[in-house]
Amino acid sequence: MSAFVHIENISRLFGPNLTTGEKIAAKLGSKVETRSVRAVSDVTLSVRKGETLGLVGESGCGKSTLGRVIAGILTPTSGRVTIDGAPVMKNGTKVTTRVQTVFQDPFASLDPRMKVGETVAEGPIAHGLTTKAQAGGYVAGWFERVGLDPVWVDRYPHQFSGGQRQRIAIARALAMQPDVLICDEPVASLDVSIQAQIINLFLELTRDLGLTCVFISHDLSVVQHVSDRVAVMYLGRIVELGPVQEVFGTPAHPYTAALFGSVPKLVLDAEELVRFDKIMGEVPSPLSPPSGCYYHPRCPLATELCSLTQPDSAPISELRTVACHHFEVQMASLEKK
Ligand SMILES: Nc1ncnc2c1ncn2[C@@H]1O[C@H](COP(=O)(O)OP(=O)(O)O)[C@@H](O)[C@H]1O
Ligand code: SF4
Ligand SMILES: [Mg+2]
Repeated sequence: MSAFVHIENISRLFGPNLTTGEKIAAKLGSKVETRSVRAVSDVTLSVRKGETLGLVGESGCGKSTLGRVIAGILTPTSGRVTIDGAPVMKNGTKVTTRVQTVFQDPFASLDPRMKVGETVAEGPIAHGLTTKAQAGGYVAGWFERVGLDPVWVDRYPHQFSGGQRQRIAIARALAMQPDVLICDEPVASLDVSIQAQIINLFLELTRDLGLTCVFISHDLSVVQHVSDRVAVMYLGRIVELGPVQEVFGTPAHPYTAALFGSVPKLVLDAEELVRFDKIMGEVPSPLSPPSGCYYHPRCPLATELCSLTQPDSAPISELRTVACHHFEVQMASLEKK
């Protein structure tokens, strides 16, 4: 499989958005936060055609920001994203329909005043994928495809359950006939029993439609279930990347090991959700990341080198990369267990 989505040196900063009063206060020496948050820092990776890439990491590590940049919803501060060689954005505007997004909360992402059929039809009509005259049949087809009864097209979002609303959001994304789907915590707001249904639908649709996906989730069991490869993020950087079973089975980065250390067997059940508070220490503020390796204040393997020098991402096998000075020590520790 060849690389299809290229994410090249993407960084995204969020400024402090100071009011004029705050700017004056800052100049006069008052304690006003003037630093920028570096939400994503120089991320380069590619996703192959038909592949699902899982994106994991603790809350606030930059997963959604990266997902939004890939989807062309958010302008990167630097770097660029291309799909099959064509840029996703030009001059701060999304210029392709080939990438679509499914968000965590379908209630927030669906217009409460619009009939759901109209919501699904809106984009395809605007982009000439169907006509107003043919939109009824077009939308009905997508409703069936995601397991919804087409007679419901005239209902409003509040008349559906959470799982049904997420199916509508999936239909809306797929009706744009994308090649690439960005799913940002698509099942996190759903009941556990419904999560498995939506995940199975997602697997079926990505396989049947040959979609390329970036699947963001804090639930590692979900990521393990849906992904071919997984990228692990820490404070805006990708610290490890590789085939999901290899990364889960033999984590090469100490952060991945801490994250996955408590990964239970794959059962899509509330009891099996992984809690990140098992990792030692607090996540540092992205306003002032630590020197050297961002993970060093929490890392059991940290040395002086780690606090001084940021490790580059480097290949450790044909399909895996890791950004750690001492990954061999980490991997050797697995063999002893
Ligand atoms: N619109 C925004 N304005 C300012 N800071 C933001 C904004 N969006 C995200 N951030 C900050 O960027 C960092 C990454 O956030 P996010 O991408 O949402 O992480 P995740 O999805 O992994 O939880 C966090 O520190 C967050 O507070
Ligand atoms: S570079 Fe050092 S501090 Fe960072 S993860 Fe590796 S061992 Fe830990
Ligand atoms: Mg998020």
